[in-house]
Amino acid sequence: MRVLLIGAGAREHALFWKISQSPELSYLRVYPGNGAIEPESIVQEPIDLGNLSTVRDYVQKDRIDLTIVGPELPLADGITDILAPFCAVFGPSQDAARLETSKLFAKNFMKKYCIPTAGSAPFTSYETACEYIKDRPLPIVIKADGLAAGKGVWIAQNYEEAKIALHSALNEQILGEAGRTVLIEDFLVGKELSVFALCDGEKAIPFLPVQDYKRVGEGDSGPNTGGMGAYLPVPFADESLREEIHQKILDPVIQGMRLEGTPFRGLLYAGLMIHETQAHVLEFNVRFGDPETQALLPMLKNDLLPLLYQAASGRLKSSSLEFHKGACVNIVLAAKGYPGSFSNDIFLKKLDITEGDIILWHAGTRREGDSLRSTGGRVWNLTAQGSDLQEARTKAYRFLAGFPAEGLFYRRDIAEGYL
Ligand code: AMP
Ligand code: GLY
Repeated sequence: MRVLLIGAGAREHALFWKISQSPELSYLRVYPGNGAIEPESIVQEPIDLGNLSTVRDYVQKDRIDLTIVGPELPLADGITDILAPFCAVFGPSQDAARLETSKLFAKNFMKKYCIPTAGSAPFTSYETACEYIKDRPLPIVIKADGLAAGKGVWIAQNYEEAKIALHSALNEQILGEAGRTVLIEDFLVGKELSVFALCDGEKAIPFLPVQDYKRVGEGDSGPNTGGMGAYLPVPFADESLREEIHQKILDPVIQGMRLEGTPFRGLLYAGLMIHETQAHVLEFNVRFGDPETQALLPMLKNDLLPLLYQAASGRLKSSSLEFHKGACVNIVLAAKGYPGSFSNDIFLKKLDITEGDIILWHAGTRREGDSLRSTGGRVWNLTAQGSDLQEARTKAYRFLAGFPAEGLFYRRDIAEGYL
């Protein structure tokens, strides 16, 4: 199979690593890729994700059978619809991607199909929104409707904070179009969980749940980030909870999207809040999560490539996935200052490490001659597997203790407290 992989993060490095092991793979190109990918595996033709017709022309010319889309932006721009006449595409259509690209769409959809989620109301006027919050309990959650790269959610502890958030989204429009409509949502308490499922439009096959650490600082302090670490298995995600999530959330999404005439094919990511034994949806994403994927793929036994192709083609043959025993912990190394301002050009030691149970994923790296430079906030990820969480965690942190991490930082409490 001839494959094109779109994306540039550690998630795509992990997908590249997993797909490269498939006996069904004959040719793999990545765009734009990062420092992990040998130059000969990077698309050489001048293509541009801002002009998807260039990607379409490349896919035709290079006889690509399957395009795998890592990040959400090309999906929001309709890459699947544009490439679909020429190759299979792992990733939903632009209409189905609204589960991620519009929180209002996702909320209305969940209400219609009785999928458990926090109560909410949409607003476009600052004054009306301020009137509404007066009677609501605190804390209260304010969410921009559109894609905001992790910056579109405010948890307000008091009415003053809520008003500031509403003012910046609705009046100052700091998020542009994405924040012209906001949802004001009830605050949910509990533990967060990420559940991914492969979907072919008819059914959903879940992966094991993963826990993501979204805040920048230890003890879940500081601002939200793209994710600072992840691990599995998650001890509280037992079989009955997983079954409940499958029946009450994943299956109804797939059936609902089919009934809406926008079947969902690709990766459904349910961001959940678990309280006691109840799961509520915080958000949907329509692509693999980062950094969860970097912890998940080393644990997956199945050959992923045929599964992605089958999902993209609308006929998944399996009904479940198989995982290795044990545990996996993934720790993100970010540039100092992230998610605020940080250097985008840190000199990095050129490292390619796959040592037994340890893998160093490249995130924001690029090659420059014989050296390596950082290109983003999240620079590397370190994954370690072990017979249990304790062992995986110890291996990961022991490795990082000797790692050349000048200019970088990482959280020291990933998977702590669940051992
Ligand atoms: P989202 O992008 O909707 O997943 O929101 C980002 C983060 O904000 C989530 O990972 C949660 O930590 C938090 N959050 C979002 N919605 C709620 C909610 N209704 N109640 C409590 N926390 C929330
Ligand atoms: N880990 C959060 C995300 O991928 O959106």
